[in-house]
Amino acid sequence: MSPPTVALLGGDGIGPEVLTAARSVLDAIGFEARYVEADIGWRLWSTEGDALPQRTVRILEQADAALFGAVTSLPGPEAEAALVPTLQGTGLRYRSPIVRLRQHFDLFANVRPCRSFAGNPLQARSDIDLVVVRENTQGLYAGLEFDRPSAELQAALSSESAYAPYADAPEGAEGEVALSVRVISARRAQRIVRFAAELALARGETKVTLVEKANVLRATSGLMVRSARTVMAAYPLLELEEVNIDAAAMWLVKRPQEYGVLVASNLFGDILSDLCAQLVGGLGLSPSGSYGPKLALFEPTHGSAPKYAGKGIANPLAMLLSAAMMLHHLHEVALAQRLERAVATVLEAGRVRTADLGGSATTTQMAQAVADACDA
Ligand code: NAI
Ligand code: MG
Repeated sequence: MSPPTVALLGGDGIGPEVLTAARSVLDAIGFEARYVEADIGWRLWSTEGDALPQRTVRILEQADAALFGAVTSLPGPEAEAALVPTLQGTGLRYRSPIVRLRQHFDLFANVRPCRSFAGNPLQARSDIDLVVVRENTQGLYAGLEFDRPSAELQAALSSESAYAPYADAPEGAEGEVALSVRVISARRAQRIVRFAAELALARGETKVTLVEKANVLRATSGLMVRSARTVMAAYPLLELEEVNIDAAAMWLVKRPQEYGVLVASNLFGDILSDLCAQLVGGLGLSPSGSYGPKLALFEPTHGSAPKYAGKGIANPLAMLLSAAMMLHHLHEVALAQRLERAVATVLEAGRVRTADLGGSATTTQMAQAVADACDA
């Protein structure tokens, strides 16, 4: 069998630094792949006016998996100012390359494992081992945003009594009313719950926890709940636990050890996954995978951390754990487990720690320690 094709997208800031670290450890454990480097991020926006060039999309279309560092994204006025002079004033609009990747490759399942490691000085408890599965394509992040709802939309909404308090905004007054529409389709709701259920079975869980707010968001959360019940009926070994988002935040802080696989729509999943990442030591330790029908993309949860960029002191473990997720996805289970065990060994020994973990090791030293522990 020919080795898998893995696209490497370093991006900006500490992205390329942690990606280089991951590549060195993957080489050290003997993972064979055809690597293809691809451009993405703020630098590309500045010089070419496109943070996700077509040539990168084409590389990803041919890839079995992608390892992605992080990109910098800044608001509109700064985006315009960052363009090279020849591109300024040409009407280019910055669009997040991450959102575009999600849409183009239908990366519908964002998976963020959060687990405790012996010797991790930053975690809340030593017995956390959960995964947040976030739906990535619909919900409140569907992109249905109305800064200034059209007369037609306002008129349509005026027939709803709940809209009455907002309907008297001065005619044409920009910014008086804004709408972000939460969209849930049953097909996409069922797809994400099925993904979560399969993951739960693979992990040997006894339940899947659906995090919603069906008592208030009756239409959209209601459809999520009904869809989940339909899907879970086909999984007799798994209980479906239904929890409201506010209660889930509280319980996850209080008793995170009682959760295994949580599934949530876009916004709730986004918030919960950051909460859970912090329970186990923060961004430097938090990996993620985004799965679509063809492509799967693995990246640390953190961003480009500009204050650390170029200093070589970022913690590479989130990237390394993301690489381990990629190995699982590519059916290299033995290698994945070796890498995870090596990370665990290094954390437990505590001799090599980056600044966020209270130490003074560099990114390269941390990666080398993990590579050495793989051999041990
Ligand atoms: P960030 O995650 O880049 O950094 C926040 C803070 O977390 C850092 O200042 C640092 O103290 C710590 N941190 C993050 N990664 C670390 C690591 N590997 N080792 C040690 N400490 C680490 O988030 P921030 O500052 O909000 O965003 C910076 C830039 O990154 C922005 O332009 C933002 O848009 C972008 N971003 C990109 C993401 C992505 O590419 N997926 C995700 C989040 C933010
Ligand atoms: Mg987030």
